[in-house]
Amino acid sequence: MITADKTKYRTHYALSLSEANIGEVVTVAGFVQKRREHGEHLAFIDLRDSTGVIQCVVEGTLDLRSEYVLSITGTVFNRPDGTVNEKLETGEIEIRECTVHVHSKAKTPPFQVESLADTDENLRLKYRYLDIRSSRLQNNLRLRSQINQALREAMYEQGFVEVETPLLWTPTPEGAREFIVPSRLHRSKFYALPQSPQLAKQLLMVGGIDRYFQIARCLRDEDLRADRQFEFSQLDVEASFVDAEDVMRFISYAVEKAHQVAFGDKKLNILSMTWSESIERFGTDKPDLRIPNELTNVTKIFENSHVKALNAESVVSYVVPSSVQLSRSQLDQLVESAKLLGAKGLLWMRVKRSDSEIEKLHLDSPISKVLESDVEANLIEALNLSESETVLLVADKKIKSNKILGQIRTELGKIMLSNISHRDDLKFSWITEFPFFESLDQEGNPIPAHHPFTMPNLDDIHLFASDPLSVRSSAYDLVCNGLELGSGSIRIHDREIQSKVFKAIGLSEESANEKFAFLLDAFSFGAPPHGGFAIGIDRLVQIFAGEESIRDVIAFPKTGNGSDLMCKAPSEVEANTLRDLNIRVVQP
Ligand code: AMO
Repeated sequence: MITADKTKYRTHYALSLSEANIGEVVTVAGFVQKRREHGEHLAFIDLRDSTGVIQCVVEGTLDLRSEYVLSITGTVFNRPDGTVNEKLETGEIEIRECTVHVHSKAKTPPFQVESLADTDENLRLKYRYLDIRSSRLQNNLRLRSQINQALREAMYEQGFVEVETPLLWTPTPEGAREFIVPSRLHRSKFYALPQSPQLAKQLLMVGGIDRYFQIARCLRDEDLRADRQFEFSQLDVEASFVDAEDVMRFISYAVEKAHQVAFGDKKLNILSMTWSESIERFGTDKPDLRIPNELTNVTKIFENSHVKALNAESVVSYVVPSSVQLSRSQLDQLVESAKLLGAKGLLWMRVKRSDSEIEKLHLDSPISKVLESDVEANLIEALNLSESETVLLVADKKIKSNKILGQIRTELGKIMLSNISHRDDLKFSWITEFPFFESLDQEGNPIPAHHPFTMPNLDDIHLFASDPLSVRSSAYDLVCNGLELGSGSIRIHDREIQSKVFKAIGLSEESANEKFAFLLDAFSFGAPPHGGFAIGIDRLVQIFAGEESIRDVIAFPKTGNGSDLMCKAPSEVEANTLRDLNIRVVQP
């Protein structure tokens, strides 16, 4: 608890007062949360400050309205019997014999500060400063500050140095569209705002900083979603003479420290699995480990079946627990979703008890009539099915069937977890050994999954030409409750491997030199082996705060279409400004 440094405006914060202060004369300061009249000459004022609310009993005929800014001096009393407010932390006490000083009057606010649930988000964003007065945003922004402090301290403890890198920079090869800033001094030239300090931090390794971190602002011109903003913050980390395990250890430690801030000493357990294992078990590289049941490969069971739809390279199943009873129309919707995701179909089977033999289970599905009884029995046994469960099956190419059913599992997870806050159950996992290439382009060149300085797994380099999609990389992600919290990799520091990678992605030495000249040039002066990571701080705080959107842990976020409704950004600029920048706006 903060104890107020006495100022001329206040002696105490609301929540620093307790029965221990009874009889003391105190001054509190804040906003009027609520006013209740009691006859003509008595009013109860709930005064809100940054710690909470305290009730003040004000006599006289003062006109004190919602959100007026006051200092109130009075004596702390126990509340009379029967008037204790259990809901309020200061509910046992009140301030009486008050003198009120009005610092500032307030217009009638467009919404009640504490009624967020019923208030349209756009209205909250337009009057964000009022929204920030609410306990929800107060708590979230304070938690964010504490998490930043914990992350910083964790990195200092591990010997890292905080270095700031430029915001006015040059494009970085990380895939997102960049915001550009016109240069006044260099006409027709532009800076790029960094989508991350990726290249800068690698240059710091060449510069011998050895262990760098920064709470970095990153900017990306991408479509906005609940977990994406144009501007966001990363705990950005890079270290020399380390391997992937070392980096993951540094980051796990920092996340554990942040977790302690949010949850006390509750132990943090971070699992680890390879990308292949994650795809096999959950059909995604961002598994939500809170969702019950994993995928099971049942290809073998259908090998000799005559059901055509199930003769495929891979048949994968997911068992929906009996606690989720899907109606026929919900099942039809799942089939449609699977088709939209590229599946030929999705087969569902409900586990029922046979009418004739009460001990026996059977599968009720659109293929009941044609499914061989031994295949049915094998499936029931292999999946250890129980009555009222529903089996979902996707048959397709290997990874494809897993990915499609994985998305269906995630969709169903939303129903299963709808009443559970992130705060109730946090399931972290490292996902390691991501594929080096994500797919092939039209000319057959493999497209790198990460930036081109990611180190491939040295055991797989011989597969570059023959089987590029099987090449693993040294890239790893940190995932929590189905959300990617961060990612990183070991980087290439070796000229020869770098050339092989450029060649594999169809980038000539010449254009590589042109594109990444300063980095390659720097490496030619000696680059230590190095690697790093970046945690998305907004997402970390969102999850720790139990929120569904990062907007709720950012003081001034943009709306879904990228506007700031309060300051009305983006906006037009004056003609003079454009002239100085040598820019002419062409109306569409
Ligand atoms: P990456 O691009 O995966 O990696 O970003 C790391 C983490 O940053 C967060 N993040 C975002 N958060 C909010 N809004 C966004 N638009 C947004 N984009 C990304 C995510 C993500 O996991 N330079 C590499 C890291 C490295 O290799 O060291 C990088 O930026 O939580």
